[in-house]
Amino acid sequence: MRKSTELPPALKSSVHRYGAMQRLLHWTMATVILVALAIGLYCSYLEHGSAQRQFLMDIHKSLGMTALALLVIRIPIRAAKAEPEWRHQPPLHERLASKIVHLALYALMILMPISGYITSASEGRAVPWFGLFNWPNLLVEDRPLGKMVGVVHHYGGYTFFALLFLHLGAVVWHRVVRRDEVLSRMI
Ligand code: HEM
Ligand code: HEM
Repeated sequence: MRKSTELPPALKSSVHRYGAMQRLLHWTMATVILVALAIGLYCSYLEHGSAQRQFLMDIHKSLGMTALALLVIRIPIRAAKAEPEWRHQPPLHERLASKIVHLALYALMILMPISGYITSASEGRAVPWFGLFNWPNLLVEDRPLGKMVGVVHHYGGYTFFALLFLHLGAVVWHRVVRRDEVLSRMI
């Protein structure tokens, strides 16, 4: 039987989980980014200038700019809050590996929308948001810059896929093999 001074498990668990806002942002951004990545990759096989590519690229840009806007909320929350406590702390090398991958994911979450924006805006192309409005173009036309940053966006995309493969692989391993608390910290 639980002692009367002990907190009920539902309340106690909050220190062992990311906060509600962090969880909401993680899953919303995960969905937005995975869809943006899939559309970006698909578009790279479509003919430049085709109506289908134009349509999908507009959705890609809208999702990418949404991720950037959400990141502006997410980073200060993350900076203000410590990581949740562990019930059973994983070994140091695992904690270190996850820190490095999470930091790299944050770096790409910043790099990808910004490089995408520079690629589009410096080539004078519109950056729409789901047909509702266009984001302002803050850059003067500079096609060589657009091409160069486009290369960063291209390789950044493939690095993103590789890191997400590691991230998701680690989550599945923790869930299926280790059967530990990693996934439950984020749900
Ligand atoms: C859809 C499949 C995904 C699953 C199942 C998943 C799962 C998780 C879990 C369980 C954690 C918590 C790890 C811990 O306990 O410390 C986490 C953290 C994190 N995930 Fe994901 N994730 C997914 C997609 C993504 C995507 C697409 C991104 C995009 C960049 C992402 C970025 C992050 C970051 C940056 C953290 C660290 C959070 C922090 O400490 O602020 N995840 N994820
Ligand atoms: C989370 C954010 C984003 C991710 C993960 C992402 C990912 C990708 C990927 C994987 C590609 C295909 C790469 C290739 O094969 O060349 C791509 C292409 C592209 N993306 Fe993004 N993107 C993001 C945000 C944006 C934003 C915000 C914009 C514009 C405002 C943008 C503009 C473009 C353009 C113009 C291309 C085509 C590049 C070309 O054909 O040379 N992206 N993106």
